[in-house]
Amino acid sequence: MDEQQWMAVDEYLCERTQTPDESLDAALKSSVEAGLPTINVAPNQGKLLNMLARLRGARRILELGTLGGYSTIWLARALPEDGTLLTLEAVEHHADVARRNIERAGLSGVVSVIVGDAVDTMQAFVRDGIPPFDFVFLDADKQSYPAYLRLVLRLSRPGTVIVADNVVRGGRVTEAQNSDPAVVGVRAFFDMLAAEKDVCSTAIQTVGSKGWDGFSISIVS
Ligand code: SAH
Ligand code: DHB
Ligand code: MG
Repeated sequence: MDEQQWMAVDEYLCERTQTPDESLDAALKSSVEAGLPTINVAPNQGKLLNMLARLRGARRILELGTLGGYSTIWLARALPEDGTLLTLEAVEHHADVARRNIERAGLSGVVSVIVGDAVDTMQAFVRDGIPPFDFVFLDADKQSYPAYLRLVLRLSRPGTVIVADNVVRGGRVTEAQNSDPAVVGVRAFFDMLAAEKDVCSTAIQTVGSKGWDGFSISIVS
């Protein structure tokens, strides 16, 4: 099994399950043109996020790590007209690109891109006592996943679904001695999940156009 076969299968699956989409294509194109890294979720992963949020009946969504807004568009499309998606991004340039892509997709009415460190922003949310979220997509810097999870749980309620991206990273998650902050962060994230009695979690490894990686899904009880 090799990467080329994973790519071919992903292409086949996307061709059979996705419809052409100008807003999503334009979001990826403009992101590349603006020099953003192509670390957005794959189309079939984006659609999974959309479907999970719909299954949850999410009205309030929180995203950590906007980049060019590709996953944001998938998630925002799961919302009812009066829904809300807050997406947190540290880099102003990424946020600018994302806002244009979200506008082009006709989703400016439901999406707010908030620039700043996601920890600072969520601490402010907690202080302000904003309403809890129904669905959270964790996809900012991996070293901060433990800090993010702690705050996300304070912004959750029973039934909140938390999806965390990139929890496998080519299998490096199993390397207990690895000092890469991303690996250390994801492992500490899993330690926290394991210790949380009030959170039901699973994790799935994936292969495809984004290599070998995986995501976790949790439901807060
Ligand atoms: N969710 C996007 C990809 C996000 S890539 C998609 O799938 O389309 C990760 C993003 O997290 C980058 O844009 C990066 O700038 C941002 N990020 C990194 N550290 C952050 C922090 N401390 N707070 C908020 N965003 C951060
Ligand atoms: C990286 C970040 C991501 O969110 C992703 O899906 C893939 C790679 C990265 O920082 O390298
Ligand atoms: Mg990711």
